[in-house]
Amino acid sequence: MTAKIAVIGGDGIGPEVIAPCLELLEWFRRERGLALELWPLDLGAERYLREGIAFPLELKRQVQEECSAVLLGAIGDPRVPDSAHAKEIVLGMRQGFDLFVNLRPVRALSDELVPLKQCTAADVDFVIVRENTEGAYAGAGRQVARGSADEVAVDEDVNTRRGVERLIRAGFALCRAQGRERVHLADKSNAMRHGQELWRRTFVEVAADFPEIEARAEYVDALAYNLLRRPAAYEVIVTNNLFGDILSDLAAALQGGLGLAPSANLGSGRLALFEPVHGSAPDLVGTGRANPFGAMLSTALMLGHLGFVREQRSVEQAVTEALRSGRATPDVGGALGTRDAAAVVLERVAAESG
Ligand code: NAD
Ligand code: IPM
Ligand code: MN
Repeated sequence: MTAKIAVIGGDGIGPEVIAPCLELLEWFRRERGLALELWPLDLGAERYLREGIAFPLELKRQVQEECSAVLLGAIGDPRVPDSAHAKEIVLGMRQGFDLFVNLRPVRALSDELVPLKQCTAADVDFVIVRENTEGAYAGAGRQVARGSADEVAVDEDVNTRRGVERLIRAGFALCRAQGRERVHLADKSNAMRHGQELWRRTFVEVAADFPEIEARAEYVDALAYNLLRRPAAYEVIVTNNLFGDILSDLAAALQGGLGLAPSANLGSGRLALFEPVHGSAPDLVGTGRANPFGAMLSTALMLGHLGFVREQRSVEQAVTEALRSGRATPDVGGALGTRDAAAVVLERVAAESG
């Protein structure tokens, strides 16, 4: 069966980092016969500002029905200060397609890139399993007496037993599948008495079904602190939507920077969304300095998800070699531009499987 992939460059550096991913996928299709159909979609701030709608419902339905995966660059543009279009596109797909697991593997690929002086790359190898459909991102809440001195603004943090449990179970299942030994919960049950108490209680209950896995609950503030002191203690971290967002940028710094961090948004079916953890980086647009490796590693995760595990490894290996030999963008100590850094990976992949 041909896998149809919707490809959305999006805003800012999104199209710059997605272009080489498209080239890579096109190369696999053409030269290695991978059954892929690539479907570029014009979505982002330009279209939103032009048409007043970010992601037409009919198109979203078509993606959901026809695609095996979506590859996304980034959404976010200074001309849309409330990010209304990002809510429709990024959160719209995560929530609308019920992609409840936001998987963010954190792996340092070279010793030089680990900013902690007492650590090597071997110390940074864990996975953040972030809840992706509810929590503070649910959109529930209100503003009362907007603009007045008496204004009250409320964002409700929505946690359902079903939503919390399926995420925690996915974390333990991933731990088992990857042959890892320990799952941490990052919570704040000492301050947030309702939702976070549900998280901790559910964590303890689900852990009982995985007796061979060590389960540790840690308050998210302490976990953030310890992540910098002893990253090697962490293997799998399950957490809610907001804590997961914050921890994943912190974790990206441990692996060498946001330009390197990949992610997968997974549900219970085949359809999944792949995107680098970074945003549209308005400060880098058009400079040629955007690191394409986070997007390329996300493309590798997508290839693995579609069953092309050999191709996934080949891309990951090529990125690792490019980084170790310093043939990369300035954010990771190299001197190459986006296209040249990506070309190193493309050439390596072609040479290896040639
Ligand atoms: P950002 O991730 O875009 O940038 C943060 C910092 O990291 C900047 O200094 C930037 O230069 C650097 N950086 C990011 N990607 C890089 C890359 N590939 N190579 C080298 N350096 C890189 O975060 P921000 O500035 O807070 O957000 C900018 C916009 O992106 C906002 O509109 C935000 O909402 C949006 N955003 C979108 C997504 C997404 O679509 N998934 C994710 C995060 C942020
Ligand atoms: C991310 C981003 C998004 C999030 C924004 C763009 C809504 O920061 O993917 O990490 O908060 O989830
Ligand atoms: Mn984020």
